[in-house]
Amino acid sequence: MKVTMTILCALALSACEAKNFTKCELVEALREQWFPEEDMRDWVCLVEFESSMRTDVIGPPNSNGSRDHGLFQINDRYWCNDSDIPGKDCNVTCAELRTEDITVASVCAEKIFQRHGFTAWHGWTRHCDGQPLPDISDCYSN
Ligand SMILES: *[C@@H]1O[C@H](CO)[C@@H](O)[C@H](O)[C@H]1NC(C)=O
Ligand SMILES: *[C@@H]1O[C@H](CO)[C@@H](O)[C@H](O)[C@H]1NC(C)=O
Ligand SMILES: *[C@@H]1O[C@H](CO)[C@@H](O)[C@H](O)[C@H]1NC(C)=O
Ligand SMILES: *[C@@H]1O[C@H](CO)[C@@H](O)[C@H](O)[C@H]1NC(C)=O
Repeated sequence: MKVTMTILCALALSACEAKNFTKCELVEALREQWFPEEDMRDWVCLVEFESSMRTDVIGPPNSNGSRDHGLFQINDRYWCNDSDIPGKDCNVTCAELRTEDITVASVCAEKIFQRHGFTAWHGWTRHCDGQPLPDISDCYSN
């Protein structure tokens, strides 16, 4: 499946730029990355509120003119360069954070998490911290 998608994406990039995850598809995708199982419900909650589980979202401009990119709504002031040249702390372009393949975005999110924890994300502090988290018991690992 993954190989097929890669070939399809190489042939028709535009068809593969965006993905809207369902909750269990998201859990499966996060499990393939570095995300630990004990924090999984927090990440699902964070992603639900930050991007509605859509990979291609560019947030509205923040008050200081910066924008947030992709599934994890990563800020271009610090973390990604909003041009063709990779840069800033994640050394990536912001477009790389908005692709259907979430590998690059996940590595960048890990970097942010290691530095600041979940509190780096307002969506998490406002909607997830100390609040009921999504039920993922119906998302089986395979
Ligand atoms: C994802 O959802 C948004 C909003 O509901 C919709 O506009 C968009 O077409 C969807 N994209 C894909 C790739 O399904
Ligand atoms: C810009 O605004 C965003 C969102 O409010 C915030 O996360 C970020 O720290 C701000 N950056 C600067 C340099 O003020
Ligand atoms: C971001 O891209 C611009 C080109 O548009 C380049 O001049 C700049 O050096 C890059 N910034 C970083 C931090 O890499
Ligand atoms: C940033 O990534 C580019 C490749 O995309 C690489 O050539 C460069 O060495 C990296 N820079 C840093 C500071 O890691």
